[in-house]
Amino acid sequence: MPTRPTGRPDRRTFAIISHPDAGKTTLTEKLLLFGGAIHLAGEVKARGQNRRARSDWMKIEQQRGISVTSSVMTFEHGGVTFNLLDTPGHEDFSEDTYRTLTAVDSAVMVIDAAKGIEPQTRKLFEVCRTRNVPIITFVNKVDREGREPFALLDEIADALALDVVPMSWPVGMGGTFEGIYDFARGQVTLPGDNDNGSFDGDVLKAEGVEDDALAQRLSDAALEHLREEAGLALAAYPEFDADAYLAGDLTPVYFGSALKEFGVAELIAALSDFAPSPKPQPTADGSVDPDAPAVSGFIFKVQANMNPQHRDRVAFMRLCSGRFKRGMKLMQPSTGKAIAVHSPILFFAQNRELADEAWPGDIIGIPNHGTLRVGDTLTEDAAIQFTGLPNFAPEILRRVVLADPTKTKQLRKALDDMAEEGVTQVFYPAIGANWIVGVVGQLQLDVLISRLQVEYKVDARFEDSPWNTARWISGAEKDVERFVDTHKSQIATDRDGAPVFMAKDAWELSFHEGRNDAIRFTAIKERA
Ligand code: G4P
Repeated sequence: MPTRPTGRPDRRTFAIISHPDAGKTTLTEKLLLFGGAIHLAGEVKARGQNRRARSDWMKIEQQRGISVTSSVMTFEHGGVTFNLLDTPGHEDFSEDTYRTLTAVDSAVMVIDAAKGIEPQTRKLFEVCRTRNVPIITFVNKVDREGREPFALLDEIADALALDVVPMSWPVGMGGTFEGIYDFARGQVTLPGDNDNGSFDGDVLKAEGVEDDALAQRLSDAALEHLREEAGLALAAYPEFDADAYLAGDLTPVYFGSALKEFGVAELIAALSDFAPSPKPQPTADGSVDPDAPAVSGFIFKVQANMNPQHRDRVAFMRLCSGRFKRGMKLMQPSTGKAIAVHSPILFFAQNRELADEAWPGDIIGIPNHGTLRVGDTLTEDAAIQFTGLPNFAPEILRRVVLADPTKTKQLRKALDDMAEEGVTQVFYPAIGANWIVGVVGQLQLDVLISRLQVEYKVDARFEDSPWNTARWISGAEKDVERFVDTHKSQIATDRDGAPVFMAKDAWELSFHEGRNDAIRFTAIKERA
């Protein structure tokens, strides 16, 4: 395994972003297969009995047939360890996905060749962009009829304002598909006919499109077309520039078929060759280098009640520096206390295993009883405080109404718990008794109601609230105080006590923004 000069083994910690149905699950399975990791039935798209066994605690998963919980998969290939952070793919349930993107160093964007850029892809891309997360693009499903490669590339470039560099080129698509041309190597990978329906990938060695060797296996029409298109592509797009990719300004584009295992090896090679190693992570007063000796990390996700018998939670920590060892005591600056991490879980191979050690870029699960919150730093060096874990302004705001008003205490506990997990946001209005929950998608409301009933025995429903949008407000203390005083009926506090302004609609919001220059209205709250 390659190691850094300091002895730290290298990692590629990444996520796959895509619109539902583009092929993220299929690609994940194929990456694991290539990496030799045994397929994790419960972790990818859990199917059949396995799925039910693992997800019993959350009825909603069964009803909707979707997974609303993220997981982590680790595999090795060519001596490099890859940590793939899976994200819920459903378009309604994305806040979790966004947070997961704070814990990765790069992303793979999967695009359906027939559909191009879809809304969810664009949203997730925007999050990557705000964090300068470099992106490798995989145009999937070339075994089916899709759009012209030029049209797809231009759409990516225009819609996302990115430079695109095709690294490979499909020789036909769908019925006319004959292989994939690799620009760097100048050769074509051909579909073989395998028993399991995969394309297998026989390589036709050549030295560029003009090489006559290509005529051996490609039809005349396909070869002529390839020569013409490859020539145009070389003239139309810039050369691959690693620095521009790392800065998030350029995306290398690979064509392939996850289903037929085509182009997957090239994708792994690209991750290995180009994707960044763990980067320094931003802190309150600078950044922490992965080679810094003190262990540090931050919690980007908390998953509750994996076992319904116990109120247990697993906090997912991304390690940012140092060499973590089991049993280590780490400070939690938000509480000023230290916790001993006796049973860390490393997500590897088929089962969850106890981790003896972990390195920057690794994710470890820490069982706890609610002490660890999303955004928390855990560290040996009390001076480190990671920043930048975002809360997103909710797009749906609802009043919570209890069926049994004597259950107020339980409701408050449940909402606070779930807000800590990052399942919902909760706002306490300055005036009025009804608490407001904020979510980014309708499905989160269903998850909330279901969990309130199952886990907290609280019957509640949601009513429309007068507000449809919320923004965190900040500025000089006296300006914020004045604004809060004059708009009391529209002010609430979030679970951390930070002031939030709620508006009826975008028009009202922009009206207030326009009249209050001293106040900043933000749709993303980064935890300080
Ligand atoms: P997602 O996680 O992004 O939502 O997508 P998923 O992998 O579940 O794929 C969505 C559908 O697209 C699946 O078909 C899958 O088999 C198909 N698919 C994925 N990659 C490719 C590809 O490279 N070529 C082709 N032709 N199809 C692909 P489904 O019928 O909806 O589901 P299933 O019954 O196959 O599970």
